[in-house]
Amino acid sequence: MTQAIEVEPLTPTIGAEINGVDLAEPLSEETFAQIHDAWMKHLVLFFRDQHLTPEQHLEFGRRFGKLHIHPAAPFLHDNPELMKVHTDKDSHIQNGATWHSDVSADEEPPLGSILHLHHVPPKGGDTLFANMYAAFEALSEPIQNLLVGLEAHHVSDYTHQYGDHKPQREFPRAVHPVVRTHPITGRQALFVNSGFTKRIRGMSRTESDALLEMLFKHVTNPAFHCRFQWQANSIAMWDNRCVQHLAIWDYYPQTRSGIRVTVQGDRPFFRQEAV
Ligand code: SIN
Repeated sequence: MTQAIEVEPLTPTIGAEINGVDLAEPLSEETFAQIHDAWMKHLVLFFRDQHLTPEQHLEFGRRFGKLHIHPAAPFLHDNPELMKVHTDKDSHIQNGATWHSDVSADEEPPLGSILHLHHVPPKGGDTLFANMYAAFEALSEPIQNLLVGLEAHHVSDYTHQYGDHKPQREFPRAVHPVVRTHPITGRQALFVNSGFTKRIRGMSRTESDALLEMLFKHVTNPAFHCRFQWQANSIAMWDNRCVQHLAIWDYYPQTRSGIRVTVQGDRPFFRQEAV
């Protein structure tokens, strides 16, 4: 059935709340296209009061592509496509607490992630999202020109993050362009993040560290951000090709938990003519 969706932007730069759709229901092609268009325009979408079963969550994710399996995160219902997101009084670390694009160390990093939180703390536990098109566009022309030819090493290491859970596969590492062209919008996005990007190729350690430090600081500019306050049964879906995010752990010892379904992406590329 076609549902007319309402799109309420959170900021002029990034994020929109979507109303008038029940994601537990099968989506018509038209409704799916409206959601996809809003996603490409606003980069992160938020839905409230969604009561999806894990199977319905998987179905929604599969509308966007093949599902991604995290290298190391624990999962639910014996299905590694259902990544467990859980922090409570016994946690020593919270998933996603630094600025990152999900598993950017994969050769083909996830294009998007769909997080459904079932249990949220009474206060706190917000997630920040940053627009990487805006971050690239705000750089001066000399720095933009320097970055577009460069590649960087992305390395993952989950050794201490997930306790005794046995990893699903080897921790990935990959080399990606520092500025990537979004395959759907054709826009250029900054694609280095403090979670995974370790070194710019072809530069000395001193040069690479200085450039990455400047870019990681640049990403923290609030002008590129929106901040989402979760409620139980909210969903956020973000486009990892042009968004970084950071989950704030300010609610210890409270519990925050849910499920993330992640959609497999393609190999990042840079296409000059899109500039
Ligand atoms: C993540 O998937 O990186 C965590 C996001 C969150 O928990 O808000």
